[in-house]
Amino acid sequence: MKRILVAYATMAGSTVEVARVVGEEIAKSGAQVDVLPLGEVKGLDVYDGVVVGGPMIMGWHRAALGFLKKHREALQRIPLAVFVMAMSLTQTGETSVDGVPVEVDEKLPKSPEQEGRLNFRERYARLANYVRPILKATRPVKPVDIGVFGGRLEYGRLKWWAVLFVMVIIQAPAGDRRNWTAIRSWAAGLPAALQLETSKADGLTRVG
Ligand SMILES: Cc1cc2nc3c(=O)[nH]c(=O)nc-3n(C[C@H](O)[C@H](O)[C@H](O)COP(=O)(O)O)c2cc1C
Repeated sequence: MKRILVAYATMAGSTVEVARVVGEEIAKSGAQVDVLPLGEVKGLDVYDGVVVGGPMIMGWHRAALGFLKKHREALQRIPLAVFVMAMSLTQTGETSVDGVPVEVDEKLPKSPEQEGRLNFRERYARLANYVRPILKATRPVKPVDIGVFGGRLEYGRLKWWAVLFVMVIIQAPAGDRRNWTAIRSWAAGLPAALQLETSKADGLTRVG
């Protein structure tokens, strides 16, 4: 049986549930799936595929970027997929960044206020701006696929500086924008993207 790791970073907790759902979908292919916070991952060598997920927190979650850098060598042998949770994304119509396919939750992107001219916030929230640091962290390996989805924002859970950043730069209203249909549909394609040759037996999900 193939063994897959879904490892996640989170600040306020909502990415954990996303990681579990991604794990559930992969397990339907018959693979054994471990869903773990990044800090509990001992090593990657026991895995046939790895999925790393995390939210945008003024750039993709620092611990997730650090995890990719730390395991860069192992990831040359193990296929990697990545997911990104976000509350602000500028509509640019891109479906890939530097040759890596990126699937974007269609409910997330917002059209620029002025066509053909992006303001500072819109430039910051471009897909390429979010994804390139991830590609840099995995270089020379490229993830097989990247999913970008709407996340959840609750001001009550945040420190003052986080509220300030979100209000000024992200300008997203509080709420849960996780699109479970889009997340499940992306995750259902991962067994093929990660090239798992498993039979359609019942998979196991171990949640940490
Ligand atoms: C301090 C802070 C910075 C954030 N930065 C971004 C950002 O740069 N771009 C974006 O789209 N969303 C940003 N967000 C929104 C989060 O990515 C979103 O709320 C995510 O779902 C949080 O996941 P978590 O609950 O697992 O921490 C930010 C949120 C916070 C609190």
